[in-house]
Amino acid sequence: MLFQRRKPLDLILETAGKRALTRQLGAFDLTMLGIGAVIGTGIFVLTAVAANKAGPGMMYSFIIAGIVCALTALIYSEIAAMVPVSGSAYTYSYAVLGELIAWMVGWALILEYAVAAGAVSVGWSGYANGFLAQHGLGLPDFLTAGPFWIEHVKGQGDVVHLVDGIDHKGGFNLIAFLLALAVTGLLVAGTSKSAKVTAVLVLIKIAALMAFIALAFPKVQGANFEPMLPNGWGTPLSGVGVLGAAASIFFAYVGFDAVSTAAEETKNPNRNIPIGLIGSLAICTIIYLLVAYTAVGSMGAQPGGPLSESKEPLAFVLRQIGHPLVGDAVGFAAILALPSVVLMMMFGQTRILFTMSRDGLLPDKLSEVHPKFHTPHVITWITGVFVAFFAALFPVDILADISNAGTLFAFAAVAIGVLVLRKTEPNRPRPFRTPLVWIVGPLALAGCGLLFFSLGWNPTIKFFVFWAIVGLLVYFLYARRRSHLAPGNEHKLHGLGDRLPPDPLVHEGPSTGP
Ligand code: ALA
Repeated sequence: MLFQRRKPLDLILETAGKRALTRQLGAFDLTMLGIGAVIGTGIFVLTAVAANKAGPGMMYSFIIAGIVCALTALIYSEIAAMVPVSGSAYTYSYAVLGELIAWMVGWALILEYAVAAGAVSVGWSGYANGFLAQHGLGLPDFLTAGPFWIEHVKGQGDVVHLVDGIDHKGGFNLIAFLLALAVTGLLVAGTSKSAKVTAVLVLIKIAALMAFIALAFPKVQGANFEPMLPNGWGTPLSGVGVLGAAASIFFAYVGFDAVSTAAEETKNPNRNIPIGLIGSLAICTIIYLLVAYTAVGSMGAQPGGPLSESKEPLAFVLRQIGHPLVGDAVGFAAILALPSVVLMMMFGQTRILFTMSRDGLLPDKLSEVHPKFHTPHVITWITGVFVAFFAALFPVDILADISNAGTLFAFAAVAIGVLVLRKTEPNRPRPFRTPLVWIVGPLALAGCGLLFFSLGWNPTIKFFVFWAIVGLLVYFLYARRRSHLAPGNEHKLHGLGDRLPPDPLVHEGPSTGP
């Protein structure tokens, strides 16, 4: 009974058909969209966190996380081309795995999107505070970081202890807080980010990373790779070692699934969606590996070393190896481009909560649309205020890890969903078929599981378990009865996507910036 409630796939597709958005995006636009959502705090900031966890072996971490994402991208391509509607993993799960799982996936996606938006805001603040300090406008330490921190301490027999406490220097990360609120304001006002703006920001990010690689490459020295694995490969739930760093650096790849949300507006989706998903991921992976190699090789990356301590590691490396001006320019590129990642993440969050509210699982009030701006302003403000406080209070590594836990859970659900659909609806048209799905699917699942359990128990998995329990309580005490699929509520049932606000990711439509 519990798993029986499903939103009929045909109803979802019918509504998507009714929206009839113009199919205008090609493979190039989608690839740009993917890179636009992917390159952000992960590579610009978490490189330092990875160095702290794995040392030079973080290069392996980038490879492992990249492989897991590549497998997932192959799976996502099939379902995104087949069910080309918004709402991402939540919608797919509702059709295939039933309401309870869909609810849990939607609940986990709050971690993926809202917490990630907080993480990117904190990452951005590292560069922005650095920039202000360089120009004599630095804020007091108290206003540059949140109060909570977690430190990894190696104990006897290489057991890793985690110590958490209050950072006496940190208090309230003011500028991360302000960024999150500013982005919220833009979203409420209906800011749309055109494909052209996305393309320009992508070029800025790629140019910055290329400059980094070109200048750091000649300084690579063999000695900087020794010892390669100071913390070993890592043990489950320890959150350190190569696997612990892979689970954290996974954040750098998150966002490629944004491509799937543009499926309805894509020309020739069976060809272009897989190219967009897999192409953007491939380009980012190659760039990331080169950045990791040159950062480690030019500067060294031992845990506790200077690279691992920096809040703006790429700018820091360039300054240390004699290119202070380019270091500043790379920092400035991050300052320009990272807010758009926050915008995409927050937009994704509002879209998912909006869809859940339209399905009756969350209060109707949340899907109220602003009379003038035509945006879901209530849910956008609620999301924005939460994101702003996450950003103000927590450090980037904790937020990124928690976001990864939610994302990995959602990715695993999508992989299961695709396999289930192959069995239950073998004849439904599949514009793109994942090659070797019975190998790729289980491997994607195993990869997500490996990374999930390589996250640290404290605070990440502990928080995830707490979050899941709260989610179950909300479902059974509230959402299950209110669902439009609940007995007596059928008259409220409508397809997904009616009255959805415009999508700022891809529409060229009326644009107010940023
Ligand atoms: N992948 C995105 C980033 O690194 C979320 O900022």
